[in-house]
Amino acid sequence: MFSISNRSAVEPFHAMDVLAEATKRRQAGHPVISLAVGQPSHAAPQAALDAARHALAGGRIGYTDALGLSELRYGIAGHYEKRHGLSIDPSRIAVTTGSSAGFNLAFLSLFDAGDCVAIARPGYPAYRNILAALGIRVVEVPVSAETHFTLTPESLEAVQKATGERLKGVLLASPANPTGTVTGREGLRALAEYCAANSIAFISDEIYHGLTFVGDETSVLELTDEAIVINSFSKYYCMTGWRIGWMVLPERLVRPIERVAQSLYISPPELSQIAATGALGASTELDVYRESYRRNRDFLTRRLPEIGLSIASPMDGAFYAYLDVTRFTNDSMEFAKTMLAQINVATTPGLDFDPLEGQRTLRMSYAGSNAEIEEAVERIAAWLK
Ligand SMILES: Cc1ncc(COP(=O)(O)O)c(C=O)c1O
Repeated sequence: MFSISNRSAVEPFHAMDVLAEATKRRQAGHPVISLAVGQPSHAAPQAALDAARHALAGGRIGYTDALGLSELRYGIAGHYEKRHGLSIDPSRIAVTTGSSAGFNLAFLSLFDAGDCVAIARPGYPAYRNILAALGIRVVEVPVSAETHFTLTPESLEAVQKATGERLKGVLLASPANPTGTVTGREGLRALAEYCAANSIAFISDEIYHGLTFVGDETSVLELTDEAIVINSFSKYYCMTGWRIGWMVLPERLVRPIERVAQSLYISPPELSQIAATGALGASTELDVYRESYRRNRDFLTRRLPEIGLSIASPMDGAFYAYLDVTRFTNDSMEFAKTMLAQINVATTPGLDFDPLEGQRTLRMSYAGSNAEIEEAVERIAAWLK
């Protein structure tokens, strides 16, 4: 009998397990509202759909260059010009199969097995799981209100002293999942400078850009050309299922990424790249969606504390409320399962994001429609009583 690798023994992504259970209940006819997964309820922008339809009518969808279609790479460069006033050479842009593939490519090109990379706890679970599956050691740096739930040079220094590890990489999302924290310009600058001074690769996950409600939305590219930026069409652009993301790379990393991408993926899906190129011009439509998330955010900020659910971290960006549920339970996994079974509302237990203290917390995504979010919260209010 063959054996299963140790590297595959990563934690399950509980949000995906909850999604599967919610889907099962919905198919069985239950009126499920899912706040479990961070995906907009809106369709891809019209221009993306039109571009895809046009391409389908042409009939031939094929491989593209491993780093993506040049129209899309130029389009993404144009996005940085428009949003950030930056002139980025399109040759530094790699299109990827979702930002998830971007992480694989970045980790494989930057780190060797046994290297050590710091991430925030709580944080997005796939970072930990991908790094672990690749044999890269993960140092989870606890973040709290004291440091506005973000990493700082001081916390990176402290964790290296405490563990005796030398970091090869630091990965930070801003806005962050699940905390909603936005790391401001000066915080990002301090981290970028610290990483440069210590020969540490700084990976900036900017997937929630376009969804900042409080504070400034700085791309680390405004501060340095040495950082690795990862972004995606999944969130602001409402294109989760199209699986298109991108990276902006320091020049000397382009070829290593291209070599690994050629063999891992051949190319990102062409149809999706064509759709994504269309989506880049759709900000009027997408900004309307952003305002609907803002309404959800304002509603939750008021209503959740009223029903006894305290908000554990600032909801400054992305579309998540991270809740402290210790008033009701010391096992948020069981709490989430019971909530789904009894009132058909799916949420994500905090253990996904925080293996040590996540039994105290729960994450709600507020990327759904206003009506859905309000209905879900009123069901929870009645249930908690
Ligand atoms: C912080 C963060 N990064 C990356 C991703 C992955 O997104 P995708 O692979 O769809 O681009 C997610 C998805 O929820 C996320 O929350």
